[in-house]
Amino acid sequence: MVAERIDGKAYAQTVRERVAGQVAFLKSKYDITPGLAVVLVGEDPASQVYVRNKNKVTVEAGMKSEEIRLEKDATQAEVLAVVDRLNNDPTIHGILVQLPLPPQVDEMAVINAIDPAKDVDGFHVINSGRQAVGLDAMVPCTPLGCITLLKERIGDLSGLNAVVVGRSNIVGKPMASLLLAENCTVTIAHSKTKDLPGLCRTADILVAAVGRPEMIRGDWVKDGATVIDVGINRIETEGGKSRLVGDVCYPEAEQKAGAITPVPGGVGPMTIAFLLVNTVTACCRSNNIEIPEIE
Ligand code: GUN
Repeated sequence: MVAERIDGKAYAQTVRERVAGQVAFLKSKYDITPGLAVVLVGEDPASQVYVRNKNKVTVEAGMKSEEIRLEKDATQAEVLAVVDRLNNDPTIHGILVQLPLPPQVDEMAVINAIDPAKDVDGFHVINSGRQAVGLDAMVPCTPLGCITLLKERIGDLSGLNAVVVGRSNIVGKPMASLLLAENCTVTIAHSKTKDLPGLCRTADILVAAVGRPEMIRGDWVKDGATVIDVGINRIETEGGKSRLVGDVCYPEAEQKAGAITPVPGGVGPMTIAFLLVNTVTACCRSNNIEIPEIE
């Protein structure tokens, strides 16, 4: 049996429509427009594409979108000055500094300079700490998108074996924490893990977030497993062309899995949709109002 294809793009569209409804409600009832600022330092082509996309969906949802671009040789002090201005701007509820930053800028220092209440990426140590101990926190958008797709597809995740391949602060660690909160038995695998294929074969839920094109092969996947592919890798094909692939070899894995996210059209659109969700959450919390319930 070929795996069910988990349509993240379609699900993300429903999330974005719900957010648009919430934004309209906040405007009409409270005269508040949620605002998101995205800071881009330098000209990394992939980052430029992401930032353009974020701007587009933010505006489509009816929110205020501010884009701040700095030269690739911007100093840390200049980046921190922008963060400080945005921290103090009452029309901005969410701040996202696009990573990676150029080498002269200390990423941790910049992330931790963002007001935790406006940290819609959920990367600030206050938010990672709060999430780790189960307090209300801004949760990173990609893991939030992944856990939503998993719950949508499987329902109750209690007792399932989950293997997360990759231990980044952006995806691997918060993903493991969210799976644990859903009562999964969680293993985080990384470059030093012994017998990675064997470990992956124990997974009812396999999350791939390593950034290596098609590293996870079909025979690493347990029969009927749910596979979430976070990787977005551009690979060269014949004739000087290129295409996007995930960290999982999709044509092989779909022969074994019960369900699997494609690349593109799986996790990627969910990440952006949850950035909007987090911005609405930040806006409501800062104004001490309940998050509107929209069908
Ligand atoms: N670069 C790649 N993914 C992300 C993300 O989710 N947030 C930020 N700020 N930068 C990124």
